[in-house]
Amino acid sequence: MNLTVTEKIIKNHLVNGNLSRGNEIGIKIDQTLTQDSTGTMAYLQLEAIGIDKVKTKKSVAYIDHNMLQSGPENADDHLYIQTIAKKYGIYFSKPGNGICHQVHLERVAVPGQTLLGSDSHTPTAGGIGMLAIGAGGLDVAVAMAGGEYYITMPKIVKVELKGKLKFGVSAKDIILEVLRICTVKGGVNKIFEYCGDGLKNLTVPERATITNMGAELGATTSIFPSDELTYEFLKAQGREKDFIEIKADENASYDEEITIYLDNLEPLVACPNSPDNVVPVTEVKNIKVNQVAIGSCTNSSYMDLMKVSKILEGKTIAEHVSLVISPGSKQVLNMLAENGALAKLVASGARILESACGPCIGMGQAPNTNGVSLRTFNRNFKGRCGTALADVYLVSPEIAAISAINGYICDPRDYIDEFNIEMPDKFLVNDNLIMLPSEKGKEVKIVRGPNIKPFPQTKPLNNKIKGHALIKVDDNITTDHIMPSHAKLLPFRSNIPYLSNYCLTPCDEKFPERAKKLGGGIIIGGVNYGQGSSREHAALVPLYLGIKAVIAKSFARIHKQNLINNGILPLRFKNADDYEDIDLMDELLINDILDKLNQNILTIKNTTKNKEYELILDASERQKKMLIAGGLLNLIKKSLF
Ligand code: F3S
Repeated sequence: MNLTVTEKIIKNHLVNGNLSRGNEIGIKIDQTLTQDSTGTMAYLQLEAIGIDKVKTKKSVAYIDHNMLQSGPENADDHLYIQTIAKKYGIYFSKPGNGICHQVHLERVAVPGQTLLGSDSHTPTAGGIGMLAIGAGGLDVAVAMAGGEYYITMPKIVKVELKGKLKFGVSAKDIILEVLRICTVKGGVNKIFEYCGDGLKNLTVPERATITNMGAELGATTSIFPSDELTYEFLKAQGREKDFIEIKADENASYDEEITIYLDNLEPLVACPNSPDNVVPVTEVKNIKVNQVAIGSCTNSSYMDLMKVSKILEGKTIAEHVSLVISPGSKQVLNMLAENGALAKLVASGARILESACGPCIGMGQAPNTNGVSLRTFNRNFKGRCGTALADVYLVSPEIAAISAINGYICDPRDYIDEFNIEMPDKFLVNDNLIMLPSEKGKEVKIVRGPNIKPFPQTKPLNNKIKGHALIKVDDNITTDHIMPSHAKLLPFRSNIPYLSNYCLTPCDEKFPERAKKLGGGIIIGGVNYGQGSSREHAALVPLYLGIKAVIAKSFARIHKQNLINNGILPLRFKNADDYEDIDLMDELLINDILDKLNQNILTIKNTTKNKEYELILDASERQKKMLIAGGLLNLIKKSLF
């Protein structure tokens, strides 16, 4: 049988199931990563599972999200994660070492292996030929404990890249084009596998920009083959021993196909407030810009910032623009410092931030009210940047840099003479901010600050759920709406009771109060409910508020799994029009749940309106067992020991 890259890796890691599309498969996980925002919860869950040492080939705990110290919370959490890592056999990447995905790509990711990360942009490592999937913290904790990871065997989309990008057009424009074609809903239960002669001109960091932002398609992941350029990247990182070649077989068959002609591609821009709201830069030229932010796990590689430095060299940024640059890793920052590029950036008026996530989540650098922010990042959902009333445009580093100089959105082709930045033969390797785990883990004492509160306990599923429609939200509600992640709340990521006061407040300020007063109830959602990040808090916080079920027109993949992991029923309207029929505070009743679980169809009574609707539970047998047990943790404790 002729196999795709995806099929080859899955086949090598298959523990349960087969390659037929749509069936549930369990795969063995080689590596895991966490970041601090989701990591504290994942490690509390790892502790609750009760193993002595992680069973993966390599697990890394990164600190990159919450770096601002305006109180002890962040420092306390970092210390908790550091001591947990030492104890359980996990590598610890200290604050300052860089953004998890950038560092993982540089120093840890291995072609042909599997990676599960508690961050939705984990697919970045697909740029090196790794099957890298974002998941909730509990799934990652289970993988660290040696449990397999379950997904529906996705459809595989062949994305054929033909030709060569013209000057001024970059890898960012390739993924923006895929988003324009497929939209933010277009990737659900799909893996985007790239191939074609266009690959021979795309370095691993450029490929990683594409796989990184594949997360915005809602895709399970994206992947490139591991080829000669992968070898060159690994060799330049001093890791050639990690190379194996993985290419799709000739005549491998795919479920869908897209072809992109790179020669025809233009510089693109994702306009507010969705990454798929993509237009050519020529359509938005001359919009005045207040803030330009360059960096994030999408575009902060050495070559990205070398391009920026070249464009800014000898120039000064516009008077009304604040330009901030976050190098993706210590390696990138160190190399820019050594070769003089950093001095050019600083001379132009750029403000250099720590090698961390920073402005991506409004951490320290939110735009002004009603401001325009141009970002090389991956998301522009309303409010994510930290300012609810701001317009965020997503662009390539080239557009960002030239626009910072002129003060309005510019087409780089109008201003920049052609130049070329090559990938270095040798990156600067210094892993002195990666701490090794202890060989005597049992003797390590975990330091637990006062901000670390226990996570809410789940109970086995009842046969009946009765409750009010506590909130009714529109289509495309993101995990940022369900559990806002702005800078003021991030220090409380290990404190679910505190966070519960903010659940879904961007949609309805009174929701937490109502939920607490009534002891819980049901959420009504539209299409693609829970899109966005892997943030498990978006399930844990509703669980704490007593939410028993979410009824929506459809769900985003990771969020649906997080609901199931935490014993909350994700139910889909059989007839999407029934959504219109339910009003806020209608009294709802779902009977005979346990009896009807096998049929995958439940009936809900709207006792306020005296009507009935049918609901579909899209869940595998294993997921049903999880729901019956009251979540994954309850189930896994039984199966692992
Ligand atoms: Fe960090 Fe933003 Fe990426 S929060 S991991 S830079 S999406």
